[in-house]
Amino acid sequence: MFCRIKSGGIIGIEGFEVDVEVDVASGLPQFHIVGLPDKAINEAKERVRSALKNTGFQLPLKRITVNLSPSHLKKQGTHYDLPIALGLLKLSIGVEVREDTVVLGELSLDGKINAVKGVLPIVLSLKRAGYRRFVVPTDNEKEAGLVEGVEVYGFSSLKEVVDFFGGSLEKRPVSLSVRDILWQVNSFSVDLSEVYGQHQAKRALEIGVAGMHHLLLIGPPGAGKSMLAKRIVTIMPPMSFEEALEVTSIYSVAGLLDPKTPLITQRPFRSPLSNASDSALVGGGTVPQPGEISLAHRGVLFLDEFPEFSRKAIEALRQPLEDGQVTVSRVGGRVTFPAQFLLVVAMNPCFCGNYGNPYRACVCTPLQLKQYQKRISAPIMDRIDLRVWVNPVEKEELLSMNSGETSESVRKRVLRAVEIQRERFKGSSTKFNSRMSNEEVKRYCVMTQEAHNLLRSAVEKLDLTARGYMKVLKVARTVADLEGEEKIASHHMAEAIQLRIKEKAPTL
Ligand SMILES: Nc1ncnc2c1ncn2[C@@H]1O[C@H](COP(=O)(O)OP(=O)(O)O)[C@@H](O)[C@H]1O
Ligand SMILES: [Mg+2]
Repeated sequence: MFCRIKSGGIIGIEGFEVDVEVDVASGLPQFHIVGLPDKAINEAKERVRSALKNTGFQLPLKRITVNLSPSHLKKQGTHYDLPIALGLLKLSIGVEVREDTVVLGELSLDGKINAVKGVLPIVLSLKRAGYRRFVVPTDNEKEAGLVEGVEVYGFSSLKEVVDFFGGSLEKRPVSLSVRDILWQVNSFSVDLSEVYGQHQAKRALEIGVAGMHHLLLIGPPGAGKSMLAKRIVTIMPPMSFEEALEVTSIYSVAGLLDPKTPLITQRPFRSPLSNASDSALVGGGTVPQPGEISLAHRGVLFLDEFPEFSRKAIEALRQPLEDGQVTVSRVGGRVTFPAQFLLVVAMNPCFCGNYGNPYRACVCTPLQLKQYQKRISAPIMDRIDLRVWVNPVEKEELLSMNSGETSESVRKRVLRAVEIQRERFKGSSTKFNSRMSNEEVKRYCVMTQEAHNLLRSAVEKLDLTARGYMKVLKVARTVADLEGEEKIASHHMAEAIQLRIKEKAPTL
């Protein structure tokens, strides 16, 4: 006796079809699972056995073989419990599980159904493959229900599922209310206006976000670097629904979704600690999990106290910064996770932190300054377009509590610049000014004669490298876009040059 229940698996954040084939034959009672299962799946045997018993059913006392097909792809996770149990019940008591229904769910020993990882990407992929009906754990039903044009049924126990397929339990597919997927983009718990003064730094954040220029904040402790960084996502343009689904898929695979808020609508802000391992940072593990750089996808990756990060971890960032994705090797293959983020790095200028501080003296020796410099990864610095010196806020400014613009008002300008870039790069793989090829820089960075003169003198005075030169041009393009200007004028160029200067910092 043989039957097949449809389920799904996941590689990276892509789902694929899995047939759970169940065969019950006469012979000594045995229970085998084949088809490249991982350890968690092999433990399914015990969970299925107990769940069946505690729901009032018997595991057939026969030779049971479960094959997860296609057998060349590695399977991971605990969501095959439910399809296995249903396959057994179909064979033993004739529970009518429709073949067009995809089943996902982990069983606990008492027959309850637990939430599992990766439901959203599996449903998205299987919908593309033509499936329209899904049975999932109740705690994953909202997440699955985000996918349009499919019927999702959420269950919290094996008994319910059996009754549903047997026809004694009526159930309607999940329908999400608007509140469930409510766009909360404009309701942040922090705002840029909470940071007093720091006009130059705020302006740099605006330019960075508008053109996706990676950013360095450097200055003494307490200057407000971390405070500024945490507010960057509040001035970024809202995510599109597709972007939100993409981010949510990553969190789903990582098991970090809150069942109550199925869709992640705000851009992520990730701030890993400096002692994070490189696999925590870029992803990895025997069952590959997305790392911080993928959890920061479409948002901000903030590396606070940058020189404290291990060289190995930092070097691992290089490739993803180029590619916008990260490939993690594992036994039997490679897994790719998306990783497009705005990199924001903060650091003190020296060991004691007071180099360049107008209010306190630096007590570092020249040797210490040199050693500090050595800790900073040159290849990463090379990929950072904007360098901002953050002085402690001036006493006057603090006392006057001069808060300045709100995030919302800054975001409006950013949106305009992003729109302009969308038009500019239509049909190109480039999306932002910071990612322009040299060819595109030539085509799009048209400037006035005065701007050109300024650039020429900067090249000489600042001893700009070819790379530095390109960066100034790209930043100038973004500054002009923020004003809606087609031609780069001298004041745009001046601001771009300003943000390149090795002002004060001994270490850059
Ligand atoms: N410009 C500012 N406006 C308001 N508060 C500030 C400002 N700068 C610093 N602070 C206060 O000082 C604290 C420390 O700032 P923080 O961002 O942690 O500094 P840093 O990261 O540069 O060491 C903040 O939590 C905030 O309370
Ligand atoms: Mg800090």
